Amino acid sequence: MRYDEHFKELCGALEGAGAFLVVADKKGRVNLMTIGWAQLGVIWGEPVMSVLVRPSRHTHALLETATHFSVCVPRRGELEKELAFCGTKSGRDYDKARACALTLKDGASGVKYIDGCALVYQCELYGRAPLARGSLAPAALKKYYEPAETPHTLYFGKVLKAENFL
Ligand SMILES: Cc1cc2nc3c(=O)[nH]c(=O)nc-3n(C[C@H](O)[C@H](O)[C@H](O)COP(=O)(O)O)c2cc1C
Repeated sequence: MRYDEHFKELCGALEGAGAFLVVADKKGRVNLMTIGWAQLGVIWGEPVMSVLVRPSRHTHALLETATHFSVCVPRRGELEKELAFCGTKSGRDYDKARACALTLKDGASGVKYIDGCALVYQCELYGRAPLARGSLAPAALKKYYEPAETPHTLYFGKVLKAENFL
């Protein structure tokens, strides 16, 4: 499908139970993290999915050396327990795909994605941008961050393939 088809479903998931962000480490071990913050659009003349990850997440450490990631969106009402698990437990302590009995598949260029999701965006890491406290609106800083907390890092992923299993 075109990357922007089913944009509404993507946003509905982000506003609701979330979507899975799937990142592999250097040894090929895969971690799943639930995300509610992401953007899909055009940068550098390419379709780009951007995800925002707090420095405290295991996923953040993985993204510092990763080359790819995927964003996997379940059908509405499905995999909600799994999203809750992957959004509260850390890959430092769990193999979350195994704990949730989710099957991983190989996509383009070795990207891993979750079997059984409605929408899958396979991405190549194209850049990163740590958000600076001073660049954010005071209201956002106050609402989302502790006084000394470093804000999210924005990771840009060029969409290599967007698939619809709806
Ligand atoms: C619905 C939902 C949405 C979330 N969205 C984000 C997000 O966009 N960015 C983020 O850094 N953490 C987000 N989180 C929190 C992480 O998923 C959570 O801290 C997770 O346990 C981190 O896993 P990791 O340590 O294996 O990376 C969200 C959690 C939930 C339940």
